[in-house]
Amino acid sequence: MAEKVIFPYEIKNVTEEEDKLVKKYYKDYVRPFIRVGPHGYFWMAGFGDHAADIYNLEVRPDDIWVVSFSRSGTTWLQELVWLIANNLNYDGAATTPLTKRYAFIEYPTQASEKRKDQTPSTNSNHRATFDDFRNLHTLTSPRFVKTHLPLSLLPPKLLDTAKVLYIARDPRDVAVSFHFMHKLFRYFDEGVTFEEFWDLFKKDLLLHLPIFPHIEEAWAKRDHENMMFLFYEEMQKNLQSVIDKVCKFLGKDYTNEQKVKLAEHLSFENMKKSSGFKFGKSENKDSEITFMRKGKSGNWINYFNTEKMKKEVDEYFEKHMKSTDLRFPEVN
Ligand code: A3P
Repeated sequence: MAEKVIFPYEIKNVTEEEDKLVKKYYKDYVRPFIRVGPHGYFWMAGFGDHAADIYNLEVRPDDIWVVSFSRSGTTWLQELVWLIANNLNYDGAATTPLTKRYAFIEYPTQASEKRKDQTPSTNSNHRATFDDFRNLHTLTSPRFVKTHLPLSLLPPKLLDTAKVLYIARDPRDVAVSFHFMHKLFRYFDEGVTFEEFWDLFKKDLLLHLPIFPHIEEAWAKRDHENMMFLFYEEMQKNLQSVIDKVCKFLGKDYTNEQKVKLAEHLSFENMKKSSGFKFGKSENKDSEITFMRKGKSGNWINYFNTEKMKKEVDEYFEKHMKSTDLRFPEVN
């Protein structure tokens, strides 16, 4: 057993005022929400209980970790990575849902106190059960691991030990997609408007936020030999080249024909109709409350539909882009 490292960050409650505001929306949570890590990442109290356990997880050299902010194309990249790493085993992919092919590290720490028996995705027939930080050590290698935690909250030796793929997406598109996800997983009631959601987003008062530092932590490591930094927009624009890059990164070689077939398999239409990615049958009236929602880039513009929101989102985006050399590829 490796010696435990001390979790280096303070875990603070959000202010009382903030907690009161978010609990109007995250209704099933009782304990105060927290901020943790070098950028004050917003999390459920349950994460604080296990932050040190997660920080101390043992990483194996043949692990493959897919890391992202929620709604950034994680599922898409997970499928791509798993197939490339597993000799294009489409049968295995069809018979075993992604939720069983990847462990989801922090998943149980997000459960609400009022629905303790249930983790969030319960408005469906499909109740996801994942392997997670508690049983990661029991899984056979090679392990496939997914997490929405930023690098700073993951085991410090992760990048020097295992292969990590990070996927980033324009935060404005993430905001919209995250809004619908909050309803799909019943974090929020269906009636919550995007305007209300945006108000919390811009104040970093939603799970995983702030998003820019989350992305920038990985961006800063993009030249590390074990890091593959990808953009959702890049996958939209040229999936074939992303397939090539990931093949190289994972030391795999396939024919052009095999790679074309893989790109077809990974199309939005194909993935939307496969049952393995449903994570919730949409019983909702609103057709956008579904996991594979639109699969587009730049669509955020249609949701910031008041002058006030437009102005705010422009200011928000510009302010953050000013202090980084990171640029999201233009899709159209
Ligand atoms: P939208 O809500 O904008 O449609 P994550 O897996 O990180 O939660 O990301 C989910 C987002 O990725 C959703 O965005 C989903 O539609 C999109 N997505 C998933 N698979 C995709 C694919 N094959 N092609 C394009 N977008 C995809």
